[in-house]
Amino acid sequence: PNPLPFIKPPIALPPPSTSPPAHDEPPTIQTLLARLHMRPHTEGGYFSEAHRDSRLVPSPYPATPASGSQWAAATAEQKREGFDPSVRNVSTTVFYLLTPGSPVGFFHRNRGATVHTLHRGRGRYVVIHPGSRGRDRRVRIESFVVGLDRARGETQRWVVEGGKYKATFLLPDLDQNGEEGATSGEGMLVSETVMPGFEFFDHEFLEGTKLEGLVGREWAGGLGWLVKG
Ligand code: GUN
Repeated sequence: PNPLPFIKPPIALPPPSTSPPAHDEPPTIQTLLARLHMRPHTEGGYFSEAHRDSRLVPSPYPATPASGSQWAAATAEQKREGFDPSVRNVSTTVFYLLTPGSPVGFFHRNRGATVHTLHRGRGRYVVIHPGSRGRDRRVRIESFVVGLDRARGETQRWVVEGGKYKATFLLPDLDQNGEEGATSGEGMLVSETVMPGFEFFDHEFLEGTKLEGLVGREWAGGLGWLVKG
């Protein structure tokens, strides 16, 4: 049996890694994308950088990229012109949006912690806490719903620590009876702040070949659809 029955696609999903052109989104989403100057994110969904603190601090991270192969394959834009791996911006903040056309943010991790604040919509987050060599060696899979209905236990602010793999997917809106409907018309909009600031150098997608070693075979079967193909 699937040990994580709640981690399943709630709506019909497009094949992984295809961010559809924005003009395939519903009109309300297109308006939001244009207003917030958002573009497709390589993790899935859409984003725009709202703020990058121009002040620099010494990098607290290793001088080598989080994933050498992914850094080598990064675009010039992702690498950011003039990027100096010995320093980081003090902080960055982005808008991030999941939509009916691009409803999944695939598993990845950053070196820094990310503070998330939900503006609208609902989603489920899945965070992998790798097994350690300490007292509790077992991997832990955390999953929670983000939304504005606090009485249901939904949360509007959450933090994902650096080094933890996270994935997220869009959930249906609630109707007037508090039941999940069939649509997620407005998408899920969050702000994410990373300190020190985001760099692709510190970013790593979870590769499919690593999933089973991380979470074991049974869970890997249930979580594979959240790995970027
Ligand atoms: N460029 C590509 N992805 C990101 C991200 O998640 N945050 C920021 N600030 N810039 C990015």
